[in-house]
Amino acid sequence: MSGVLRLTLNGRARADLVASNLFLVDYLRGVAGLTGTKEGCDGGECGCCTVLVDDEPRLACLTLAARCEGQRVETIEGIGAPGRLSRLQRAFHEKLGAQCGICTPGMIMAAEALLRRNPQPDEAAIREALSGNLCRCTGYVKIIEAVRAAAEAR
Ligand code: FES
Ligand code: FES
Repeated sequence: MSGVLRLTLNGRARADLVASNLFLVDYLRGVAGLTGTKEGCDGGECGCCTVLVDDEPRLACLTLAARCEGQRVETIEGIGAPGRLSRLQRAFHEKLGAQCGICTPGMIMAAEALLRRNPQPDEAAIREALSGNLCRCTGYVKIIEAVRAAAEAR
């Protein structure tokens, strides 16, 4: 079964015919062409696919696209661009918070949700907000530093 999905994606209204069993990560990457959202485990365990739905972090690999009807979906492409990086993107770059980069979009989107609801988080709050996002490269220290730096840059 399929139907028309209407949502706001990175600030722009869209309407797409989607299958009712299409997951949001596949809608974003395959239909909308936004490949910044990564797919790691495809099972809700790694956080790579984290996007924002109405400002809340959401795992796109576990979310049916059709469930986002009428909602605001934001991806890593929506919060900055080459030459116009967001404060988090700049901080991850400057503090070496990204190595291989596969976890980075999800980390940044989870951190973006945190900073929207808590502009000055302490380290415990940062660790809590990122607890569902796995990184095999950095050891997390640089990631925490990057989020702190982004908060201070606001
Ligand atoms: S790809 Fe969604 S949580 Fe791993
Ligand atoms: S930078 Fe490689 S998994 Fe995080």
